[in-house]
Amino acid sequence: MNWWQAGIIYQIYPRSFQDTNEDGVGDIQGVIRRLPYLVELGVDAIWLSPIFTSPMADFGYDIADYTDVDPLFGSLADLDNLIDAAHRCQLKLILDLVPNHTSDQHPWFRESKSSRDHPKRDWYIWRDPRPDGGPPNNWLSEFGGSGWKLDSNTDQYYYHTFLSAQPDLNWRNPSVRSAMHDVMRFWLRRGIDGFRVDAVWYLLKDDRFRDNPPNPAYRPGGLPRDALVPVYTADLPEVQSAIAGMRRVVDEFPDRVLLGEIYLPIERLVAYYGRNLDGVHFPFNFALLTAHWDAITIAKLVEEYEAALPTGGWPNWVLGNHDRPRLASRIGPDQARVAAMLLMTLRGTPTLYYGDEIGMLQAAIAPEDVRDPFERNVPGIGVGRDGCRTPMQWDGSSFAGFSAVQPWLPIAADFREKNVEIFRQDKASLYWLYRRLIQLRRNHPALAQGTYSSVTACGEVLLFVRGLPEDRVLIALNMGDKPVPVTFAKEDLPGWVLLSSFGDRDNQELTGHVDLRGNEGLIVKLSSSGTPQRRRVGVEVDRRGSG
Ligand code: NOJ
Repeated sequence: MNWWQAGIIYQIYPRSFQDTNEDGVGDIQGVIRRLPYLVELGVDAIWLSPIFTSPMADFGYDIADYTDVDPLFGSLADLDNLIDAAHRCQLKLILDLVPNHTSDQHPWFRESKSSRDHPKRDWYIWRDPRPDGGPPNNWLSEFGGSGWKLDSNTDQYYYHTFLSAQPDLNWRNPSVRSAMHDVMRFWLRRGIDGFRVDAVWYLLKDDRFRDNPPNPAYRPGGLPRDALVPVYTADLPEVQSAIAGMRRVVDEFPDRVLLGEIYLPIERLVAYYGRNLDGVHFPFNFALLTAHWDAITIAKLVEEYEAALPTGGWPNWVLGNHDRPRLASRIGPDQARVAAMLLMTLRGTPTLYYGDEIGMLQAAIAPEDVRDPFERNVPGIGVGRDGCRTPMQWDGSSFAGFSAVQPWLPIAADFREKNVEIFRQDKASLYWLYRRLIQLRRNHPALAQGTYSSVTACGEVLLFVRGLPEDRVLIALNMGDKPVPVTFAKEDLPGWVLLSSFGDRDNQELTGHVDLRGNEGLIVKLSSSGTPQRRRVGVEVDRRGSG
């Protein structure tokens, strides 16, 4: 198995992880300082959101120099030190690659904008105004309003999928592709272990610039961008060859990985593995970020995903990131423990978002504290991402151990009771549950490599088996808050509880029947041998118990 298959990825949003130079913003030295924490937690790889030179209109996703580090985060030397230090602790380092757009301050864009005849004009997407002076077509920005901005100097519009300060590169231009490939080589040569590629399904746009059709399902008050179906601005077939080109660059170096940020339904998502597995190593699977949290929905989506994967395509699961509301707020703190168990026992690489291991909540952000440009552009309908980007809660000191000064975003109100220092001393904490789960995954090949077989999703109970011929592990999750009696078929028992989410049933022997408490999860080693494919686990769930 490759490291990116066997391992666990931990996403760090660097602005909010650890500040060391007392400016209220996290930095690379801060990540270095906290490496021992990550080692202790047991993760295998860090994915660092952008640390490159940027005016920070979108907090680093607007890059003005792809091959340098923004002074806010440190220096290139700091990043080299991080690569070394991470590798010394056996941690891999994945950087964010943002190829769809640059900052409007990037020299490429400044040159492109300088005149219609500049050789870099075609590096971006420029179009004439409509006869009435309006934008060339109806394409919308993801962050609200038209996707086109007029440059009055050259009297043409440029296209931006996100902010107008983030002009889209023209990926139909071979020079753009090779410039981005050189950026990739620059970092790969410095020793990073791979890239998470931002917004990669947007890379190509219709070359005839046709209007996107209206979305019949759109309801007023919804996200403005959802008014149209983005058939001509996203997920175009041509994107696959652009990705295959990036993959070839990554493959020039041994043991590196290319991961894609792609928000699409499962049947479209899986195309990004590439026709011959020559696309991304895996497209992030975000299905759990929005799924209704009940056993039947989750079982269905796991099965659909497993069935849709191409032969040889490696699965993965994500429960949180810097763009979506915090997990513990979405499903509640009790279910956050069950979710931890699900994430660490499903088949495929888990990605853990910083702070989710201590159950950080979506912080309430007062209007005057809003920093997210998306929220500023489209206020009041709940798109704000600041609440999931608040500083890491390390301890109970004034700025939560994150900084010695007022941080760039407020610290969540509960930090004095919920922080790493306190949770580390409490073996019953979520943090310890994560540590145990990670260890268990490491020690049980069935969890890292075994097949997935669904057993049942009944009432609120989700049961599945991860199996290798010599090792079968049953996962039983109660996704509701009522107790549910579960009876196992005799031939699968006795079984031994390897890990219980409440921590009080570990090593218990199961001989036939178990009362799964509300919000409880159990990981059970089954005693009988035989491949999971050959014989299903017999189980009966008393639905009355599930309320
Ligand atoms: C996706 C990133 O995750 C998000 O934070 C960013 O705003 C957009 N891409 C634009 O780069």
